[in-house]
Amino acid sequence: MVDSVAEQIGKRLKELMPSQVASQVVEVSKNIDGLLPEERQQSASYGDKRLLEFATTRVLLRNLMKDLGLKAQPVLSGKNREPLWPNDVVGSISHSGGVVMATLSESCHHRALGIDLEMRKGLDRKLFEKILLPEEEALLFGIEETEKSRLALLFFSAKEAFYKAQFPMTGLFLGFHALQLSLPDSDSNLSFIIHNEQVKENLRPFSTQIKAQSTDNFAIASCWIDQPL
Ligand SMILES: CC(C)(COP(=O)(O)OP(=O)(O)OC[C@H]1O[C@@H](n2cnc3c(N)ncnc32)[C@H](O)[C@@H]1OP(=O)(O)O)[C@@H](O)C(=O)NCCC(=O)NCCS
Repeated sequence: MVDSVAEQIGKRLKELMPSQVASQVVEVSKNIDGLLPEERQQSASYGDKRLLEFATTRVLLRNLMKDLGLKAQPVLSGKNREPLWPNDVVGSISHSGGVVMATLSESCHHRALGIDLEMRKGLDRKLFEKILLPEEEALLFGIEETEKSRLALLFFSAKEAFYKAQFPMTGLFLGFHALQLSLPDSDSNLSFIIHNEQVKENLRPFSTQIKAQSTDNFAIASCWIDQPL
């Protein structure tokens, strides 16, 4: 049987994350039954789309808590929309085009996680300057336009994943030029340079890795920050 889009993305997400990280990808659910009372209260003012995405991610996170042998706990959102993780876990969430993905790892393994999904074919040419550094645009020089746009979307997604991972540690909003990326190697790893002294300083004691893949229809990216050995 042919995999659904969510199953295809789920397989890729597993390839992009270390083995200790639990992950799940599903289509957005049509009900909010899985919300815990605290989450129901927080999301009471959300519009329909946001509410269903929020409810779907919370059910996924509870499944992942169970997979990791942890008790079910609420995951509320902070004032910058960042998930407020219970003490024993870190994770990340992304939704796009009716698909939701969530990851979770125990805090003893990881300091932070970031994931991102972009359900489209490529990045609009008009956004290149805002998203890409001149050095990144130079990497795409001479590449055919459709492929260039696909790779630009992969860069965009990787930057979003990095942003989500670093935020709980730094509390900093970053522009897209704060991170300079290389093209992925054969194992989907992107090497990177951080152009922000505060973020660089915060992440110095930790090993940070970024991976990304893209297809004709979507880009998917992950970032994880290890606990020091
Ligand atoms: C916050 C942001 C990353 C969300 O991305 P998006 O493509 O709009 O939405 P996604 O579906 O991929 O992600 C939404 C999830 O991100 C998470 N998220 C939102 N803000 C976050 C933050 N500050 N830190 C960590 N995670 C955050 C939430 O879990 C949210 O889902 P939830 O509301 O159901 O809990 C994006 O809107 C943004 O502001 N980016 C900042 C600029 C940037 O990325 N710069 C790159 C720096 S190198």
